[in-house]
Amino acid sequence: MAAIVKPQTTVLTDPMMPVPYRILRVRRETKDTFTFELHSVTGERFPFAPGQFNMLYLFGVGEVPISISGDPAHPEVLVHTVRVVGTVTKALCRLKRGDILGVRGPFGSSWPVAEAVGDDIVIVAGGVGLAPLRPAIYHLLNHRGDYGRVALLYGARTPGDMLYTDELVEWRGRFDIQVEVTVDAARPDEWQGNVGVVTTLIPRAHFDPHHVTALVCGPEIMMRFTILELQKRGLRDDQIYISMERNMKCAVGFCGHCQYGPHFVCKDGPVFRFDRVREIFGKREI
Ligand SMILES: Cc1cc2nc3c(=O)[nH]c(=O)nc-3n(C[C@H](O)[C@H](O)[C@H](O)COP(=O)(O)OP(=O)(O)OC[C@H]3O[C@@H](n4cnc5c(N)ncnc54)[C@H](O)[C@@H]3O)c2cc1C
Ligand code: FES
Repeated sequence: MAAIVKPQTTVLTDPMMPVPYRILRVRRETKDTFTFELHSVTGERFPFAPGQFNMLYLFGVGEVPISISGDPAHPEVLVHTVRVVGTVTKALCRLKRGDILGVRGPFGSSWPVAEAVGDDIVIVAGGVGLAPLRPAIYHLLNHRGDYGRVALLYGARTPGDMLYTDELVEWRGRFDIQVEVTVDAARPDEWQGNVGVVTTLIPRAHFDPHHVTALVCGPEIMMRFTILELQKRGLRDDQIYISMERNMKCAVGFCGHCQYGPHFVCKDGPVFRFDRVREIFGKREI
């Protein structure tokens, strides 16, 4: 009788080996930002925690770190939102339904959704920074009874730069989450809402400063001013979490490309509790 040969699966779980994923759906969010829904060609699913990222590999072009932006309760569909900034992201955003790309991950630290149970939550997002926060929002809404008040403050450059507009409307309609949005600039005929940077929303967010956890993601300058405003509202540095971006190659702590002071963003981050990076945050040379 022929021996039964077990299928070899270890290769697919090697963190350096991209797994093939097929694009199920592409949604255009803004003029330069696209959301991809992917399905593993091998049928494997990789659970992830809110805030983690994958390395997306485009054959013959290159590999980039991109946060997971989907619902952690549904890891069978992998969701990524990508803004075009350069070579790889431009090629990625040309892909169509049915195309295949490589995925390594998930990697990195996550938003502290377990540690924050019982707390109020304030989420402050700038631009494409809403993408890494969306899995945390899904988690909070899926476990709404575990948290106190939840406030989402989101700022984009213009109304046309806003991500997930249908969901923002849906979340606002739930009444168990405070949703405030603003744009840096808009024509009066296209926008009747708040105009101003996202930090202008912080004074009106509903939370108890002694029992709140803040999740912040966006450009570093935006995070810097957000932290100052949160401190003015009485938050300590250990109540504030930020997500950092650095160039990456290996994503597993080998190559040093993502070094951030004594930390590697790929494995110690991207999510950091602010008091742990306070001394180096905002230093240009780091
Ligand atoms: C942990 C982590 C999570 C990330 N999550 C996301 C995500 O969810 N969605 C997303 O769109 N991007 C995300 N990024 C950023 C993304 O990885 C970069 O935009 C991408 O690597 C750029 O590669 P490229 O080849 O397209 O551009 P390159 O050719 O490498 O760069 C082209 C130009 O763009 C500049 N550039 C590079 N990165 C950025 C950037 N982040 N912002 C502005 N300018 C930049 C470069 O300095 C250069 O001038 C994340 C990065 C990290 C580290
Ligand atoms: S990307 Fe290689 S050590 Fe972080």
